[in-house]
Amino acid sequence: LSDRLPIIAIDGPAGAGKSTVARQVANKLGLVYLDTGSMYRAVTWLVLQNDIPLDDECAIAELASSCEIKLTPSQNLQSPVQVWINGSDVTQEIRTIEVTSKVSAIAAQGAVRKALVKQQQSWGKRGGLVAEGRDIGTHVFPDAEVKIFLTASVSERARRRQQDFKKQNQPEVSLEQLERDIAERDWKDSTRKVSPLQKAADAMEIQTDGLSISEVTDKIVSYCQQLFSQT
Ligand code: DC
Repeated sequence: LSDRLPIIAIDGPAGAGKSTVARQVANKLGLVYLDTGSMYRAVTWLVLQNDIPLDDECAIAELASSCEIKLTPSQNLQSPVQVWINGSDVTQEIRTIEVTSKVSAIAAQGAVRKALVKQQQSWGKRGGLVAEGRDIGTHVFPDAEVKIFLTASVSERARRRQQDFKKQNQPEVSLEQLERDIAERDWKDSTRKVSPLQKAADAMEIQTDGLSISEVTDKIVSYCQQLFSQT
């Protein structure tokens, strides 16, 4: 037993509901929420902003290891964490279709992952986190006290993404297009060479089709409480 606070790792594919669920779990258990996807998105934004070609791995590695990312929790549970990179607030910009379509190419680069994982591990040194991403339980915090793998069918995830876009007043995208984008991103994220999206052997899998956010949150919170009461 270590004396650090627990870490809860939540992994899963795009649109499985990880962000909202992870934020609510963190809130209910009094832990800090860490959205690691927003870090890959912020680096992607910076790459595009600097007109660096996506295959210029050296320049991107340099950028990823020298940039300063800051995540500040928003007061409102409904709105996303505020994301800053090199002093710019990119909270909105990192959610655009342009960044979303390029982020897999950036997240597949070993040097980018190395820099961001190092940062994530240093934030998690004392525990007390609900960290959400693709490789949290397998790679970033392999000794996390709780590991959850959230999934949902591609069609359910496309429907959820469409709702998100509507809420954020983003231009409307067809369900077919969203399904294609999600399937393509799943494929890229789970077949890349470095830290692919993978369920950790000791993770609990939750299939979220037909479950509300609060149902999923409650499942995770009671699972955590059950585990913590045994230790
Ligand atoms: O969760 P998200 O959609 O904001 O993630 C954006 C991208 O970053 C997604 O294509 C997968 C990648 N990602 C990753 O490779 N590893 C993580 N820990 C988090 C996200």
